Parts: sequence; C-alpha cells; structure tokens
Amino acid sequence: MTPSTPLNPVLRLAPSILSADFARLGEEVRAIETAGADLVHFDVMDNHYVPNLTIGPLVCEAIRPHVTIPIDVHLMVEPVDALIPLFAKAGAQLISFHPEASRHVDRTLQLIREHGCKAGLVLNPATSIEWIDHVMDKLDLVLLMSVNPGFGGQKFIPATLGKLRAVRTRIDAHVAGGGQPIWLEVDGGVKIDNIAQIVAAGADTCVAGSAVFGAPDADGGYRGVMTALRRAAHP
Ligand code: DX5
Ligand code: ZN
Repeated sequence: MTPSTPLNPVLRLAPSILSADFARLGEEVRAIETAGADLVHFDVMDNHYVPNLTIGPLVCEAIRPHVTIPIDVHLMVEPVDALIPLFAKAGAQLISFHPEASRHVDRTLQLIREHGCKAGLVLNPATSIEWIDHVMDKLDLVLLMSVNPGFGGQKFIPATLGKLRAVRTRIDAHVAGGGQPIWLEVDGGVKIDNIAQIVAAGADTCVAGSAVFGAPDADGGYRGVMTALRRAAHP
C-alpha cells in the first residue's frame, strides 16, 4: 500500500474513525490509507471524562495490521496513565491526552515517550494555552479542540482560529530557539469550507471525521473528499 503524495506536504490529514462504519473497521482504515490519509485518528472516550463511550487498546491492536500510517490516539479519558502502556503495545504511534485529566502532566508526557510514542496535549475550547508553556520540550504535538470533545459532527468554534495563531507563535519561537518540531493539530468541525482559514491560522494537521466518512458516496469517494480538503486548504 503506497500512500499518495500529498498535494501539499505540510498538511497532514487525519480522518477520525469515530465516524467510520464500526462493523467494517479494518476495511475502512485500509480505504482511508489508500485514499491518501496521513494518520488514523483514534478517539478514545470513557463515559467519565466525556459523555460517550468508544473504543480501546483491543480495537487499536485489531486495526494495526490493516494500515502502515501512524495511529493517532486521542485519549478523552480520566485518569490517563494506565492506558498508555496498553496503547503503546497495541501499536499507537502518537498519544495525546487532556491535561486536566492527568494529575501530573509532565510525568504523563514522559511516560508516553518512554513507551516509544510521540506525546501530545489536547486543549479544549475553554482550556488555556498556558498549559503548554512549561512542557514545550516534552511535546511532539499540540491538539486544539475546535468543538467540545465527545461527539463527531459538531460545528467548528471560530475562536479556535485565534488560539491556533497563538500556539503557532509559541511553537515557531520554540523551534527557532533550537527546540524540537511540534505538530499543531485541530480537531472538530473541519470541512472543505473552513479548512483554508484553519491552515492559514497555523494548523499543519487536521482531523476530519464526518467530512471524510460522512461522504463515502461523494465523487471519488474518500480520495475525492481528501483531495478536495487538500485543494481547499491552500486556495
Ligand atoms: C470529538 C472527536 C473528534 C471527532 C471529529 O470529541 O475528538 O475527533 O471525531 O469529528 P468531526 O470531524 O465530525 O467534527
Ligand atoms: Zn479526536
């Protein structure tokens, strides 16, 4: 399976399997890789941190052999730490969590890296970006929620654009000072009609659940939708 060459290599697309057909998950992740996805976004919900319940390490392990692209695990769980070794063993390459769901954020970030994964912090719409300030050297990814976590198919919250710009400034300053690269991902309500603004504000990685899986019958199927997203991203 050869992932297609992206139209613009700085934009990574991460379809969220929350909107996939769970009865055919292996087939669905193979289809998005063939269609040019860069990551599989894997939403873990515990009916405690968020009011919904989804999938865990067993499902991650089950889909792992079906794709070669990284699995981007988004933990919406509280507490966090006990799940990290399980997801690392199940084949996750990136693991992100919400800082208010962990008692010791710095320790949790280290734990993710110790297990050989890239580590990310996820900030809800009302969560301050100051959470990242003292752990920049331990971050591989900052994920900004552009909806409240828990459900697919919600509407993009426009205030995320200002937050994206602020985090982009911090990341660029960090890298200019010799720090490691940090991806800036956005999650929730990303569509063909707003992706240009989102990328212009500084995102380099976009999650898209309903935009991709909600349109399997669109012209060109999943590849058609992802090509349209990439084209729209850089008008
Ligand atoms: C929401 C999830 C998202 C969701 C995005 O809590 O973290 O990843 O699946 O879905 P869309 O793209 O439909 O907003
Ligand atoms: Zn997510």
